Amino acid sequence: MSSVATEISVDGQGLSDRLAALALIGEIEGTDGACRLALTDEDRDGRDLVVTWMRDLGLEISIDGIGNVTGTLAGAEPGPPVMCGSHIDTVRTGGRYDGNLGVLAGLQVIEAVQRAGITTRRPLAVGFFTDEEGSRFPPDMLGSLVYTGELPLEEALDIVGTDGAVVGEELDRIGYRGPAPCPSPPPHAFIELHIEQGPILDTEGIVIGAVTGVQGISWTEITVAGQSNHAGTTPMDMRHDAGWAATRIAVFVHELAEEFGPPQVCTVGRVELHPNLVNVVASDAVLTVDMRNTDDDLLTEAEDRLAAFLEELAAESGTGITSRRLARFAPVEFDPDMINRVEKAAAELGFSHRRLCSGAGHDAQMFAPVCPTSMVFVPSWQGISHNPFEHTEPEHLEAGANVMLRVMLELAEIAETSEVTETAGATA
Ligand code: GLV
Ligand code: MN
Ligand code: MN
Repeated sequence: MSSVATEISVDGQGLSDRLAALALIGEIEGTDGACRLALTDEDRDGRDLVVTWMRDLGLEISIDGIGNVTGTLAGAEPGPPVMCGSHIDTVRTGGRYDGNLGVLAGLQVIEAVQRAGITTRRPLAVGFFTDEEGSRFPPDMLGSLVYTGELPLEEALDIVGTDGAVVGEELDRIGYRGPAPCPSPPPHAFIELHIEQGPILDTEGIVIGAVTGVQGISWTEITVAGQSNHAGTTPMDMRHDAGWAATRIAVFVHELAEEFGPPQVCTVGRVELHPNLVNVVASDAVLTVDMRNTDDDLLTEAEDRLAAFLEELAAESGTGITSRRLARFAPVEFDPDMINRVEKAAAELGFSHRRLCSGAGHDAQMFAPVCPTSMVFVPSWQGISHNPFEHTEPEHLEAGANVMLRVMLELAEIAETSEVTETAGATA
């Protein structure tokens, strides 16, 4: 790489400041975290702030029909950009780093390039994708699924959320249904910086993860229909107890994961009982099962075992059990050349590094089929994520952003360098 490219670096303080400013929107009091469920007022306010920052940097902003936002810095030549990005929606108990880091680090990369007076041959772009978390509107990675053409826009707009809201109506309400077409033409390459959200890098004291792929994900919503009745008078063998059936499902999937062994994981993360009263046998239960594995055959086997169990359980408990698939993604392998570039950049910058597979789902996995893609991970304190106490050390945030900067510059190629030394944009 040219000496200009090896000398420039992101403004780490600016990155931390922007993360802090964004986390104030939907702030979870007494913590560093935030709640900005997709397409809520808080999500809109977070979007508005990031779009303002994009405008401050002079980026060309486009918003597509599912609300994905892209800011592009023109290159010396037209053509597909070298793109980075992630998401700014959160789970209800979100931290300030999950997703936000990849987007705000992208802004810092562009700012660093501008500050150095560099014009790249290819455009540089940073995007944030709608509803990556899928907590309110399953499936997860909804925006990037539509962006890359793996889900038709019309289908996505009709999705009904856990609170009865509809994606298209909520996009209109918050003013983020844009005119840019989807699917969008694929970028030249895609890279996503993200916190690991697991314990490997933190436990091993390693700064950079070069991500090799993402494990398969299966989400199912299960509905149990029983009969409400008196908790004191109804003999145990005369019940149609939806609460008991829901509990049996939670135990079954936990034991299934133990039987399969790592990397199989199973989670019942949401349970709703009706009427949810101390002295009433529950008539209805709705619960979700999240199952993941790096091996698609094993994941399919886990799904089959669950389906067989639900049939037995319906008969045994005298309830009606139905299920609905919320999300199903096969495991994804990232591009070997992109993984090498991440490793090489980490090594050149003097950071310890290792390869690892992602346990969490990411927008990058949707880009993998359409362009060379990889991810950069930085450590998560004690592996904690989807929790307001999620934490990553500022020097690790900066290290990850500098690795991403190097990879993006290499891919975009420096066309020319001027004498400009002033920062083109403003930080928070
Ligand atoms: C996204 O955060 C997921 O992996 O569920
Ligand atoms: Mn994320
Ligand atoms: Mn997440």
